Order: sequence, then structure tokens, then C-alpha cells
Amino acid sequence: MARFVWSVATASYQIEGAWRADGKGLSIWDAFTHTAFRIANYDTGDIACDSYNKISEDVEMLKKLRVNHYRFSVSWPRILPDGTTRQINQAGLNHYHRLVDALLAANIKPQVTLYHWDLPQALQNVGGWENDTIIERFRDYADVVFSNLGDKVKFWITINEPYNVLLLCSGISSRPGTAPYIVGHNLIKAHAEAWHLYNDKYRAKQGGIVGITINSDWAEPRNPYKQEDIDAARRFLEIGWFAHPVFNGDYSDLMKNRIRERSLAGGRPISRLPEFTPEEVKRIKGTHDYFGFNHYTTILASNLDFKNLQGVGTIYDRTWLNSGSTWLKVTPPGFRKILNFIKNEYGSPPIYITENGISERGDMDLNDVHRIHYYETYLIDGVDIRGYTAWTLMDNLEWAAGFDEKFGFFYVNHSDPSLPRIPKKSVTYYATMINCNGFPD
Ligand code: NOJ
Repeated sequence: MARFVWSVATASYQIEGAWRADGKGLSIWDAFTHTAFRIANYDTGDIACDSYNKISEDVEMLKKLRVNHYRFSVSWPRILPDGTTRQINQAGLNHYHRLVDALLAANIKPQVTLYHWDLPQALQNVGGWENDTIIERFRDYADVVFSNLGDKVKFWITINEPYNVLLLCSGISSRPGTAPYIVGHNLIKAHAEAWHLYNDKYRAKQGGIVGITINSDWAEPRNPYKQEDIDAARRFLEIGWFAHPVFNGDYSDLMKNRIRERSLAGGRPISRLPEFTPEEVKRIKGTHDYFGFNHYTTILASNLDFKNLQGVGTIYDRTWLNSGSTWLKVTPPGFRKILNFIKNEYGSPPIYITENGISERGDMDLNDVHRIHYYETYLIDGVDIRGYTAWTLMDNLEWAAGFDEKFGFFYVNHSDPSLPRIPKKSVTYYATMINCNGFPD
């Protein structure tokens, strides 16, 4: 039987730093964090955790955690500075070779995400994910990465959390009401093209697996006796936006009908949701070797009526434990429920949990019993789970929330220029959990 995948995750922009080193191009996150009032405390990823220069230290931390896999992402503009294959930056590729070699030497297998949100700024300048030429650009980029790293990397994630990609893209788009649907459409097609590329050109030689990582919170009806709230909770699960086309083919009828209604009510003559042609539906359906899933929390959903359109109101139960993130409450039963939802909706796929974790805020706190409690209650059996990845190896740039929001097993001391990594109490807990393969005494 294949060994259970125990892993921990990071992402290039959140940890690498070296934002201009060795020929790297700019990403949208370089531009975003350098714009005033975007990120808490004016934090940036310019240096971040300096992981670009700290491969051996990072591998030492992974060894302490006893993980057998490590999930990280490749920075697209580090490999292709202007986003296209016009110029391939060998220095950038060398960095990932060094990292992968160091991991393999430590008996840790790489799980590589191709896109964890740091789009080359040059591509954003021509419309980014709203411009459908991005599908070919992404395929070309995937080709470069598969052909260079594929002999050593056997686990690929095309896109991390497409739902959050489209939230960010609509935030920076001039067409915020329409952009998410176009961005989502292009993300799905780009994923499918990368999957087919691997399947046709690399799978036989390299023997790896490719999937997409989708995120969703679980939703409970605020009033479980009210059908409207039960329906609202179902509508809230955005998981289907991407999973339905990839696993079942095309958008769900629920999605198509809702967006059509909303578009018409907003005075738009046609639905804002683009359509897949029958050929596209065929090409997209089945582009998965597993279901990659990121999950953190649960919300309470209620039906909101607004001009005859139903929305979803979300709140948290006051008894749920807090974390350092306003959106994250400790709600382990939701994890089990959403995994069963995936199993039932998408034909019992093998599931890899590609992220799960909790944050705290503020100064150094190595006694992270809340993290131990979180992992203790969330780590479960059941469904066809092949792997579990904690988020995250070390405290890093939590996107717009900056460095203050901390999800790591290791604390990173930013007041010391050498950025030392200091283990929190949960390191021993996770390592012990891994050591006994999930069944502690
Ligand atoms: C989702 C993202 O993939 C990751 O980048 C982020 O830091 C964590 N979840 C926590 O918010």
C-alpha cells in the first residue's frame, strides 16, 4: 500500500523573498505590496522568510517535522520573467533544482504547485487571467517546469485555490462584476490544458500525478429547521464552481441558473457566466488524478432576500474558538462533513488535503497549544484520504494580512536580520503524529 503522504506547505511569494534576484521578473504581488494601503503594516514579500537563500535551513525544519513530502510553489516570473517562453531564466530553474535535490537527499518528496497567485506582472499588463491568451501562456510555463523538474517531481498541483485567484483578480479588475466569471473560466481551461500536456507528453516517461487544489469552507444552515437556510448553506459551497467542470463536466445547473438570474436582474441581457462548448466540456472533464483540497473553517449560512434575489448571509457561532484570522474559527466537524460532500458529489475521488491550519497574531508565542488542539481535532480518518498537508512550515507573509498573522510551526524572527527560525511546541506534536502515522497512543 502506498505510504500516507504527510506534508506541510508553503508558497513562493509568502516565503522566498529575493524579489529581484538572479533575473526574476516582477509578479502582481510585488506590485500589489508596493502600493500603499494594500497590505497590513506595509509588509512586503521582498525578503519574506528569505527561503530563496535558506534551502538547507528549511530542509532541517522539515526533517524536524518528520514529513515525507513538502508542498511548495514555483514562482512563474522567477522562471519566465515576462511570463512567456521568450526568455527562460536558468538561474530561477537552478534554485528549484537545488531545493528539490536537497529534499530528495533528505528523503522528502516534493509536491509542486505551479500557480500560487504570483502571476508575472507583464501578463497582468495585458489583462492577466481575464485575457484568454493566458491559457496558452500557462500551458507553456507548465511545459517548461514539467520538462525541467519532472524527472524528480512526481506530484503536481496546477492551480492553488482558483476561487481566491478570482477574488483577487476582480479586486484589481476594471470590470469587477464580470471579471470573476471570465477569470474562473480561463483558470479551469488553463488547468485542463496543463493536465492534458502532462498526460500526453510526460506521464509515460515521468509517471507523476497532476490535479488542481480547490478550497472551501463548510457551511451549516444557521437555522437547521428552515429550508431557506439549508438551501443557502448549499449555495455557499463554492467548491462546485471548479470541481463540477473538472470532475462532472460543465458548470452545475445551480450555478448556471443563479448567475443567469442575477445577470438579468442586474440589467445585463445575457448571463455573465461564459459557456463551455461541448468540445471544451469533454476536454475539461476528467482532468484530475486526485482531488486536492484546502480547508480551514465553517460558517453559518442564512438566506438573504434582496430585490427578489437570494444571497447568503454568513456568521460564526459565538461558541467556536477563535484564531488569529477573523475568518477562521475552530470547527472540526465541518471538515468531516465537507470531505463526505466531496466523496458523494465527485465520485469518491482519492483526496489529498493540500492545506489545513490555524493562525495566531502578535509577538513570538512558541507555546502554541491552540495549534496542537486544532490538528488534534481536525486530523481524521474516513473517506479516501491519501495525504495530509499542514499549512504552514514557518510564519510567513499572510497575503494582505502581512506577517502579523502567523500560521507556522516555526516562528521567524524578523527583528534579527538573519531571520532565525524557532520551533513552536506544535513541531513535536506534528512530528509525533506523523511518526505514529496518525494514531497516537
Ligand atoms: C490559503 C492559501 O493557499 C495560503 O497561501 C494562505 O496563506 C492560507 N490559505 C492561510 O490563509
